[in-house]
Amino acid sequence: MSWLKPLSSVWKNTLSKSIQYGAEILHSRIPYSPDNPYLEGIFAPERQEHFSINLKVEGQIPAELDGALMRIGPNPINVKNPCNYHWFTGDGMLHALRLKDGEAHWYKNSYIGSASVQEKLHRPQIPGKTRGVADAVNTNVISFAGKIWALVEAGAYPVELNAALESRRHHLFEDDQDMPFTAHPHIDPETGDIHAICYDALSQNKVFYLQIDSKGKLKHQVEIPVKHGPMIHDCAITKSQVLILDLNVNFSVRSALKGSMLPYQWNPKRQARIGILPFGGQVADIRWYEIDSCFIFHTVNAYDLDSGNVVMDAVVHSKALVSSSQCPIEDQDIRLERFIFEHGTGKVFRTVLSGTKQEFPRINDAYTGRKHQYIYSISFGEFDDPYHVSSNMLLGHDLETGHSESYSFGENWVTGEVIFVARGGAQAENDGWLMSYIHALDGNPSRVVILDAQQMTAGPIATIHLPVRVPVGFHCNWIDYRKLRINYS
Ligand SMILES: [Fe+2]
Repeated sequence: MSWLKPLSSVWKNTLSKSIQYGAEILHSRIPYSPDNPYLEGIFAPERQEHFSINLKVEGQIPAELDGALMRIGPNPINVKNPCNYHWFTGDGMLHALRLKDGEAHWYKNSYIGSASVQEKLHRPQIPGKTRGVADAVNTNVISFAGKIWALVEAGAYPVELNAALESRRHHLFEDDQDMPFTAHPHIDPETGDIHAICYDALSQNKVFYLQIDSKGKLKHQVEIPVKHGPMIHDCAITKSQVLILDLNVNFSVRSALKGSMLPYQWNPKRQARIGILPFGGQVADIRWYEIDSCFIFHTVNAYDLDSGNVVMDAVVHSKALVSSSQCPIEDQDIRLERFIFEHGTGKVFRTVLSGTKQEFPRINDAYTGRKHQYIYSISFGEFDDPYHVSSNMLLGHDLETGHSESYSFGENWVTGEVIFVARGGAQAENDGWLMSYIHALDGNPSRVVILDAQQMTAGPIATIHLPVRVPVGFHCNWIDYRKLRINYS
């Protein structure tokens, strides 16, 4: 501020602080600035927690579904500086729709009780210490070891939810060790063990592989040396190995000094690589494969071939987190790709499975680590959307036939992540249902849709009308209540 030069340093500081204080007051009076698209429209937070019954249903909910469709996402309670708010950092809110006996029993939404949420809402802190990083727990919700857990990456402990879906404690599942965790662990369908690559935002020279058994106890851990503090949002597992994504979005000191709420940035200068570590192995057992610069938020799946080669399918971004302090996705290529890692040579063969812009890829989870035929994802680009994240198209890919099909939820509707729920006793990989929360562009309440996965282009077989608007968020999962250890009624 050149006009401050004639003033003494004391006055400069006083005046600067006054301006900053004044700006904060102004910001606090604005109900989330229109300058930040992730605070308005379909992203605008829901202010209240609700519990509703007597939900309107069109069509027929499959009678064998006994559980809840849970979706989590950012829902900031207050934002000091809306210009600087990043979508990835908002306070977490859970949305749950309970289905049983062919009926929609209730809908509920509740904040995830991280330390800052409890403080902002004047609620008592929940037990278990927080790890001091990534306080907002807003990215994924899973059932594991018979309970329901909310997850985030960059180090924070999972948050256990009780039967009322209230936050009960911060904890590394049923283990007492102080280890960082992630939003994208993968559960081996045969053993029930959970495998995860985890990083701690406060430590840039190492990441961790954790294997936790089906009872929630830490079984194996490996500290993996890295450089530049890579953001590792996801990993992948085969039947016998875990894949480590050490790519081109890294911790940025410059970004941190500028006060960014998410101090990670695109770093094309470093060599991107993917490591393959056998279950039970150590650092020396990792085989690293160098690849061209890119970033992967989400893998689809991976599996071993008899030759010793490994296949991994993933959504690949040509770049990410390049310049915007608000937006994870800018003008970048996004493709569904297959990687084949050749054993013993270090060579990687890449092919494009689909050139359509898409994200949130899912499969039938029973095929995790095994060869899969079907991938479901959501496309981007149908709207004149400068923020690149509004999607109204469900995509289904059949990798055997090479055929892809799509279903649009209509001009007024944006869909979140679509998940696959297998029919009980199903023999075919695609015998089940596709489910998602969909969001109205005109601001009306959201809905949940259920489609027959084998006839997805026919549209929903059931639509459940929710009482409120659910902001567009992150991950969604079907929580099967018959597999939980305590009574989540
Ligand atoms: Fe994710």
